[in-house]
Amino acid sequence: MKKRYTVGPVATEVLRGVDLDIRAGELVSITGASGSGKSTLMNIMGLLDRPTSGSCSVGGRGVSAMSDDELSDIRNRTIGFVFQSFRLLPRLTAWENVALPLTYRGIDGPEARARAKSMLGKVGMAERAEHRPDQLSGGQQQRVAIARALVGSPAVVLADEPTGSLDPETGEEIMRLFAQLNGEGIAVVVITHDRSVARQCTRNARLVNGVITEVVIRPGPAPETIRQQHT
Ligand SMILES: Nc1ncnc2c1ncn2[C@@H]1O[C@H](COP(=O)(O)OP(=O)(O)OP(=O)(O)O)[C@@H](O)[C@H]1O
Ligand SMILES: [Mg+2]
Repeated sequence: MKKRYTVGPVATEVLRGVDLDIRAGELVSITGASGSGKSTLMNIMGLLDRPTSGSCSVGGRGVSAMSDDELSDIRNRTIGFVFQSFRLLPRLTAWENVALPLTYRGIDGPEARARAKSMLGKVGMAERAEHRPDQLSGGQQQRVAIARALVGSPAVVLADEPTGSLDPETGEEIMRLFAQLNGEGIAVVVITHDRSVARQCTRNARLVNGVITEVVIRPGPAPETIRQQHT
């Protein structure tokens, strides 16, 4: 697929023919220089934006002809996002932010609270559950955003520089969490500038001049070893 942005008289062809498949249980990194189109690609993969031409499918279903409502429905049920700028809601506490995707899945009340707090524990944020985003450091906000992406057990996690604000140890912990999710059949796509993060992935997709060059780093899990909970 291709993506072109037009601002006034300036048209920029950001993606010039990208062909990328993400399979269950894979951990794929997307790398590329600043401005190469990584976040643009993530927005299209996450059904937040549409390509200028070409197509995208999720779980084998083409999404081009779907209405915005259908897209948000698929997005809310199957995709977990970690945005580059976190996008936490400022008036909500950490656990309330984390619990948001659960409401789309029909889970609220004490169960949502318990699951949100348990997920915060997994990213080392149990002590900050009642804090609002402006009462948290950048790295802490990033971990809340990661917890929010993971809490609803999505089929796919799309993470834009998820370790960008974290110290190396915390970053390692997040990568271990992603690897654990892979074992449960969840696909994780991480945009990263960090070579050590890219090395821990099964594949690297590098964006240069609007096209992707793929490198296999290690074999992904065999399909039969993946617990198929997202069909
Ligand atoms: N909504 C938009 N309208 C117009 N141009 C845009 C828009 N979003 C992105 N662009 C342009 O598309 C190009 C790719 O942007 P994108 O945010 O995808 O880059 P990136 O690879 O994520 O960069 P970074 O590593 O700095 O986050 C840039 O040149 C940017 O100016
Ligand atoms: Mg970006």
